[in-house]
Amino acid sequence: MKRIFFLFLTIAVLMASGTIEAQNVTKKQDWAQFYTFQNDNARWNRVKAVLMGDSITELWWDRDSVFFKENNFVGRGISGQTTSEMLVRFRRDVLDLHPQYVVIMAGTNDVAENNGKISKENILGNLKSMVEIAKFHGINPMLCSIPPAAGFIWRKDLTPAQDIIEINKMIKEYAQSVGIPYIDYHSALKDENGGLPKEYAKDGVHPTLEGFKIMEKILLNTFEKTDLTMDNVVLNSLKTRRSIRSYKPQQIKDEELLAVLQAGTFAPNGMGIQDSWIVAVQNEEIKKELIRMNAKILGTSSDPYYGAPTIILVFGSDPEKWRNSVQDGSLVLGNMMNAAHSLGLGTCWINREMEMFSTKEGKDLMRKMGIDEKLIKEGLTGIGALAIGYPEGEPRAPKPRKENYYRIIK
Ligand SMILES: Cc1cc2nc3c(=O)[nH]c(=O)nc-3n(C[C@H](O)[C@H](O)[C@H](O)COP(=O)(O)O)c2cc1C
Repeated sequence: MKRIFFLFLTIAVLMASGTIEAQNVTKKQDWAQFYTFQNDNARWNRVKAVLMGDSITELWWDRDSVFFKENNFVGRGISGQTTSEMLVRFRRDVLDLHPQYVVIMAGTNDVAENNGKISKENILGNLKSMVEIAKFHGINPMLCSIPPAAGFIWRKDLTPAQDIIEINKMIKEYAQSVGIPYIDYHSALKDENGGLPKEYAKDGVHPTLEGFKIMEKILLNTFEKTDLTMDNVVLNSLKTRRSIRSYKPQQIKDEELLAVLQAGTFAPNGMGIQDSWIVAVQNEEIKKELIRMNAKILGTSSDPYYGAPTIILVFGSDPEKWRNSVQDGSLVLGNMMNAAHSLGLGTCWINREMEMFSTKEGKDLMRKMGIDEKLIKEGLTGIGALAIGYPEGEPRAPKPRKENYYRIIK
């Protein structure tokens, strides 16, 4: 993993082949090692997956190139690299290859302090940045665990096993929160000390062919499961929507609002009678009224709509008169939340509209919003509301899904 040897070897080979100018190519001048794959990158286009990483990935391609070839994978591992260097060369070594997937296995050298100390949060931050860049360019990212290591031959003073376990936990939680695969090589390879046993890695860090074969099985298994869902933007969007409780003050665009409202109107509804009514409120005076009434029921002085620039109300018939009123309205709200998320907007379902609009004050507000008097007289009911706007900051990670949430009976 000590990069120096590999670095000089690579430079020597490249210089011999005339790839780089012979004069003065030093690590300092190209510390992220853009030149390593400079020529090779041009050979690849539309590969299935780029495997981004360090010497483990580098050796993997070397020890089992057939596996890479058969699966249309390309290895972009560079010995000694930390997540920071990988982030810097991500454009050249991943984006420029236009892969369908990028599989990122990184962090061993961060833990080994190859570039000095780096916090666990900053390691995760670099991984997150790679994931976000990949997504922005339509590449499906996957994050791997850092493989187990109880010690490093080049940093004998460190005892990394526990740090690796802790970082892996953070990687796993993050991957789950953004709905991307977490590939757990660590659990399959580790021994009782959290290290790599001799049969899988002679030096305790770099897997043998036997070790790589285990990783290959896990990786292919992940692809089998995710090929179905990762390319499906709808499924991806459904899994990554989260309730947003902090908004930027600027108003959303009219075309975004229209797209969300229209998605609401296409929700399934009982007997196809389109019972629900939707009112999007951007008027400051009416928003103030909604906030005041809702806060009063909630017993708070803060804004129950979290300062969202738009509030969308959904009404339905009196549930005594139309038994699917609440179900219909809820699906309208659900459709709108998912549509908004797919457009990069944030939403949160806000309750208490049923109580708010059951009072005289509530009915007067309905009139002020231009709702048909006939509907009000027939008992139009508040089903729920959405706070909607541009999200401010990161949403909370989702809770893990409860066990046995679903079962399949065949
Ligand atoms: C019927 C219903 C009522 C809700 N009411 C509120 C609410 O009044 N205020 C709020 O902050 N979140 C509310 N939520 C949002 C839930 O707290 C949120 O959906 C849940 O914690 C799961 O988080 P997620 O949406 O990020 O997956 C409501 C959600 C539903 C479906």
